[in-house]
Amino acid sequence: ASTLGAQAAQSGRYFGAAVAAGKLGDGTYTGILDREFNSVTPENEMKWDATERSRNSFTFGSADQIVNRATARGQRVRGHTLVWHSQLPSWVSSITDANTLRSVMNNHITTVASRYKGRIHSWDVVNEAFADGSSSQHRPSVFQNLLGNGFIEQAFRTARSADPAAKLCYNDYNIEDWNAAKTQGVYRMVRDFKARGVPIDCVGLQAHFGAGGPPSSFQTTLSSFAALGVDVQITELDIAQAPTSAYANTVRACMNVARCTGITVWGIRDSDSWRSGENPLLFDRNGNKKAAYRSTLTTM
Ligand code: XIL
Repeated sequence: ASTLGAQAAQSGRYFGAAVAAGKLGDGTYTGILDREFNSVTPENEMKWDATERSRNSFTFGSADQIVNRATARGQRVRGHTLVWHSQLPSWVSSITDANTLRSVMNNHITTVASRYKGRIHSWDVVNEAFADGSSSQHRPSVFQNLLGNGFIEQAFRTARSADPAAKLCYNDYNIEDWNAAKTQGVYRMVRDFKARGVPIDCVGLQAHFGAGGPPSSFQTTLSSFAALGVDVQITELDIAQAPTSAYANTVRACMNVARCTGITVWGIRDSDSWRSGENPLLFDRNGNKKAAYRSTLTTM
């Protein structure tokens, strides 16, 4: 096939991009989006600071724009994200009472997931809850500090009730290397969730890579998570300087794992990237295909 989405679909996968509502008026941007991609992830529009700026007062204008546009075109939507320590309004991070925070978290999940019920392919229910470094533990956050380790499980159960059809993912970065302590911590959590019947369907690996691309153990990581009985998805791919081999190695690892169901790049053109100085994406500032686009397409 001649586009990323159509080529991915040949093996039953999707190929998506992070999308910003503020760019949907740019014809070059939407032209590439609708030609190449069959999945979208709102880059910021579904985050807590965008959807619930003050307690129980919800705003969905920008998220609706993205979801409605994608749905009308038959593109999947990845929901990103329900519970995260970052881009979290200060009214949440300054809560000091556990019972208050528990009801605030459950209300947020229920309200956001219910609004898009039936229209979200996968939800990043909890994002980046594990610490970097050698601990394999959760990072400090208001959720962890007040609710303890159980906040992740609580979030998944609440999300399942709100939208039973969505696949529920745990999403994180620096869990691509099988030998990293952080990867092992997430692996043990997923194994425990599956053993105890906590509703989890997928693990999202962000894949924000340096120019070297994925670690050599990346495919092992994907297949090891998949062997627990979850799908794996590459959710935020970008690679410094976008070397052709680094993109090919990433895509090949996914293609080699049956339960790696899709790849999302974190933006369309280099100028759209949160790492724009590193030119990490598949299209240049003018919207032209880069060499990494070719290697990605031909590796699928
Ligand atoms: C980034 C966005 O791309 C930026 O526009 C925003 O300023 C900060 O967040 N991990 C995630 C994404 O899960 O939500 C982040 O997105 C990048 C890192």
